[in-house]
Amino acid sequence: MCHCLGYVIIMRCAQTAAAAAPATQPRLKKFQVYRWDPDTPGDKPRMQTFEVDLNSCGPMVLDALIKIKNEIDPTLTFRRSCREGICGSCAMNINGGNTLACLNRIDTNTSKAAKIYPLPHMYVVKDLVPDMSNFYAQYKSIEPYLKKKDESKQGKEQYLQSVEDRQKLDGLYECILCACCSTSCPSYWWNGDKYLGPAVLMQAYRWMIDSRDDFTEERLSKLQDPFSLYRCHTIMNCTQTCPKGLNPGKAIAEIKKMMTTYKEKRSSAV
Ligand SMILES: *[C@@H]1O[C@H](CO)[C@@H](O)[C@H](O)[C@H]1NC(C)=O
Ligand SMILES: *[C@@H]1O[C@H](CO)[C@@H](O)[C@H](O)[C@H]1NC(C)=O
Repeated sequence: MCHCLGYVIIMRCAQTAAAAAPATQPRLKKFQVYRWDPDTPGDKPRMQTFEVDLNSCGPMVLDALIKIKNEIDPTLTFRRSCREGICGSCAMNINGGNTLACLNRIDTNTSKAAKIYPLPHMYVVKDLVPDMSNFYAQYKSIEPYLKKKDESKQGKEQYLQSVEDRQKLDGLYECILCACCSTSCPSYWWNGDKYLGPAVLMQAYRWMIDSRDDFTEERLSKLQDPFSLYRCHTIMNCTQTCPKGLNPGKAIAEIKKMMTTYKEKRSSAV
């Protein structure tokens, strides 16, 4: 809350300062934005260039997009909500990298145009809005919730966890499912229907190693096919691009290790 208020006050001060000194040169920056409207018959994807005066714009790429929508073209379409990196809605490809528009500072070099595309290799609903249906269906498929074999304790606070076991979930639970990592992964580009991708696999791992969950082996057994997990070729685009600084590549490597142990155990049991 305090953070929001501070931001508004800073904006107001900046505007007052600008009004007091009208001689300030405008700092016009070009934003090239991917546009496509499926409701306009015959519309083809194209880049549209907008000019924004950085003197009257907030510091982040999302500020520029909102300014364009408010002041230049209300038809420009993109998702956004929290504008502080916790909802994941404004994930897009900015100057070649997947990131959150709300956390990405505008490069103030006005002789360079900013290039903004939707997340790569996703179906586009309109402009910067990708279709997340497959991604969410994959997330649902890993059953991202606590599962117990004995549910007789349900409704009571009995599923306790030690501080150490809780710490194992750090770096995993913070994922906001923005899909920046999955859509930076070439394996996901080419096999997104069958390969679960880094974001969903990291959440699968998060539940596998939760000390309270009883379905670790069942969770592993669901990923044994050649695609779900094993399409990861460890190029680590996912980890490089994560706007929350998480490491999905490592989580996938950990699942692969667990899978080896699980398979050895299965084959020695036969
Ligand atoms: C701004 O970008 C231009 C074009 O890429 C480049 O030539 C110039 O050196 C940059 N200026 C600064 C201050 O980085
Ligand atoms: C991911 O990696 C590939 C190949 O290494 C690279 O060409 C591509 O630009 C990367 N994509 C993103 C969005 O980071």
